[in-house]
Amino acid sequence: MTVSRREFLQWSATASALAATGCNLSTVPTKPAPKRILILGGTGFLGPATIEFAQARGHQITMFNRGKTRPDLFPGVEKLHGDRDPKKGEGLKALETGTWDAVIDNSAYYPRMVAASAGLLAPRVKQYLIISSISAYKEPNPENGTEDAPLATLADPAVEDMGKDYANYGGLKALCEQAAQKAMPGRTAVIRPGYIVGPDDPSGRFTYWPVRFDKGGEIAVPGAATDPVEIIDVRDLAAWLVHLVERGTVGTFNACGPDTRLAWGSLVAAFQKAGNPNAKPVWIPADYLAQQKDIEFPIWAPYAGETKGFHTWRNDRAVKAGLRFRPALDTVKDTLAWYKLQEKAEKGRTKLAGPSAEQEAKLIAAWREAARAKG
Ligand SMILES: NC(=O)c1ccc[n+]([C@@H]2O[C@H](COP(=O)([O-])OP(=O)(O)OC[C@H]3O[C@@H](n4cnc5c(N)ncnc54)[C@H](OP(=O)(O)O)[C@@H]3O)[C@@H](O)[C@H]2O)c1
Repeated sequence: MTVSRREFLQWSATASALAATGCNLSTVPTKPAPKRILILGGTGFLGPATIEFAQARGHQITMFNRGKTRPDLFPGVEKLHGDRDPKKGEGLKALETGTWDAVIDNSAYYPRMVAASAGLLAPRVKQYLIISSISAYKEPNPENGTEDAPLATLADPAVEDMGKDYANYGGLKALCEQAAQKAMPGRTAVIRPGYIVGPDDPSGRFTYWPVRFDKGGEIAVPGAATDPVEIIDVRDLAAWLVHLVERGTVGTFNACGPDTRLAWGSLVAAFQKAGNPNAKPVWIPADYLAQQKDIEFPIWAPYAGETKGFHTWRNDRAVKAGLRFRPALDTVKDTLAWYKLQEKAEKGRTKLAGPSAEQEAKLIAAWREAARAKG
């Protein structure tokens, strides 16, 4: 099982989201023609960031979801309720009327459901953006892979569960992409993000690191400083999605950041800079870690073997289409600031991935002992 399979607020005020993002403003008209955007989802992580940015650009939003997750978000936004699965409850009934310039499909997990929504909406929308994932690629991933790399396949393409350890997630995403493209040929943008990170992230994966460095002391850090790492700040991704809508861009894009190769050591330096001054990384090499059971570190993946290509996806096509990246240090600082606020307010979104303090201390002690024994 690989890392990619194992892992995978409302934050700033609208105005500050626009100002802080500062991404595409140089490449899009200052006052874009207002677009009507339907977001299938909108209440998780990427949806709220996209809505904030789109609203700040003057666009009109409709959300479609079950009304289960954070129903109080965006009181002024049009909300349609139903289920992606036409077999469940009212299904897609709420989408039977209405016209939109673009759909952003954030909740595409099963191809039958994507086919249903894209098929239903095709006559009434111009553009369909489907949020897929780099997990849609076949594993092991090639190094420096482009959008033309082979896609994951499933033994049973009709399967409708994620499987053990989300084993079906990638293959299902690939099929979801194809379902959208089939329903809206030439009008689809397929977006394949790597780790989406930043304020409001409910996964606790990236957030683990700024919070751990803020706590200080000796910190177990996996791998080597030269290992590659790819992340994309949710606000940069959100701004780019809006940019694609403003331009009517279609195509298939890896949405991984940043623009130049980020070394894990540089990201660790950013964690240090934003964290407690007494934080001290203790580097634990990948080959030693591979022998340890029951300890996992989020985000990082060994730059070797099956995961060598995992953090090396090329993003030239997305950059050419306007994707821009804020400095990693800004993401780190903002994530920490958000976490501290949320810790008090919204317990559910403060769960952190990563080892416990006991596991970490035990690992550091064992590694030191092994290094001593080795001489
Ligand atoms: N996080 C990452 O690192 C990462 C990396 C690569 C790709 N992605 C992809 O990014 C996308 C964005 O996810 P997000 O959660 O941040 O999006 P979002 O637009 O913020 O929220 C998605 C919302 O969809 C709604 N939903 C889920 N199942 C539904 C159903 N059956 N019918 C109707 N509504 C449904 C849920 O609201 P209700 O509960 O109210 O229905 C959920 O809150 C996902 O497709 C994910 O696979 C994420």
